[in-house]
Amino acid sequence: MDERMQVAVVGATGIVGKEILAVLAEDGFPAERLTVLASERSEGTELEYGDETLGVEKATPESFRGMNVVFFAAPADVARTLAPAAQAAGAWVVDSSSHFRGEAHVPLVGPVARSAVPQQGRIVSVASPVTAVLSLLTDGLRGFGGVSEISATSLHGASTRGMAGVRELERQTADLLSGREPEIQAFAHRLGFNLIPEVGTVAHSGWTDVEQEPVTELTRLLGASSGEVPVIALTALYVPTFYGICLSGTLRLKSGATLEAVRKALGAQEGLKVLDAPGEHVYPLAQLVVGDPAVHVGRLRLSPSSPGLLSFVAAIDNAGWAARMAVRAATGLKS
Ligand SMILES: NC(=O)c1ccc[n+]([C@@H]2O[C@H](COP(=O)([O-])OP(=O)(O)OC[C@H]3O[C@@H](n4cnc5c(N)ncnc54)[C@H](OP(=O)(O)O)[C@@H]3O)[C@@H](O)[C@H]2O)c1
Repeated sequence: MDERMQVAVVGATGIVGKEILAVLAEDGFPAERLTVLASERSEGTELEYGDETLGVEKATPESFRGMNVVFFAAPADVARTLAPAAQAAGAWVVDSSSHFRGEAHVPLVGPVARSAVPQQGRIVSVASPVTAVLSLLTDGLRGFGGVSEISATSLHGASTRGMAGVRELERQTADLLSGREPEIQAFAHRLGFNLIPEVGTVAHSGWTDVEQEPVTELTRLLGASSGEVPVIALTALYVPTFYGICLSGTLRLKSGATLEAVRKALGAQEGLKVLDAPGEHVYPLAQLVVGDPAVHVGRLRLSPSSPGLLSFVAAIDNAGWAARMAVRAATGLKS
């Protein structure tokens, strides 16, 4: 991609969209012009981009004329309806939503790349943050014969539900501390001072899409025939924090290991940072991971009764990670 690139961000006013603008400004992404798009609700509002102020326009199928790269950081149905228009206009689409993640013809990008992203179709889809954590752990531990299964609970701050989730938790916290009855809109129940075991849409099977996505995505990232894809059982909860996702879980290594060897292997994995000195209160924290491109892992423990059963805690900057991955994917695309 060269310096005359025309770039647009659809969903620029949202949690991920604003992070994409921050990463583009920080990285000095070579764009001649940046267009910020959102729904008609935000039309005419302004966003900061480095030293500049950009006016938000309403995203329409005509918004993409002359664009080289369009980042989609909007709900999945927006990607479904507008991404084809961006492709038809000749732009590359980099989509952060779940819409294309399971589609075999759309390359999925994540922190672990078994093969180069095919340069076709002018579209790439960014894996979910939970998949990023699971793929880094699986890849980092492949030296122990691989990982056969992972059982984990993912704890999602309100920002997983976007700006509406963040605002609702702010309001509910203030209301509850002031003795007012909090309103509930973005979540199924009150999130303020509560936990909600429902993230995403519940299917007939009882699993939510957020719990099932990593199964498909990990298979796609690691390669179905590689024999490396672990069986995954994930339970996702909303927790009353704002940013970051923490995972607490147990995974089974195919061969035995020592804690030192596990720490060393995970420490050598690009994209992972081991924070594991619990006696000194050092371990992954949502507070610590926000703003860090690395996934944090710690509280590592091997079962004394079952060799190879490893317990862990991990943390990821959900929106920041998604934004950095989207920009990294765009940097590798051919015009
Ligand atoms: N939040 C996360 O941790 C995270 C992580 C990875 C991926 N994702 C995915 O990234 C996408 C954005 O998530 P988010 O958390 O940033 O959501 P968000 O804060 O709710 O932002 C949504 C953005 O989409 C825009 N939008 C909504 N309807 C639109 C329409 N009809 N046409 C054009 N723009 C429209 C919104 O504009 P207005 O401001 O005008 O409403 C806003 O800019 C979602 O698909 C999400 O699943 C999110």
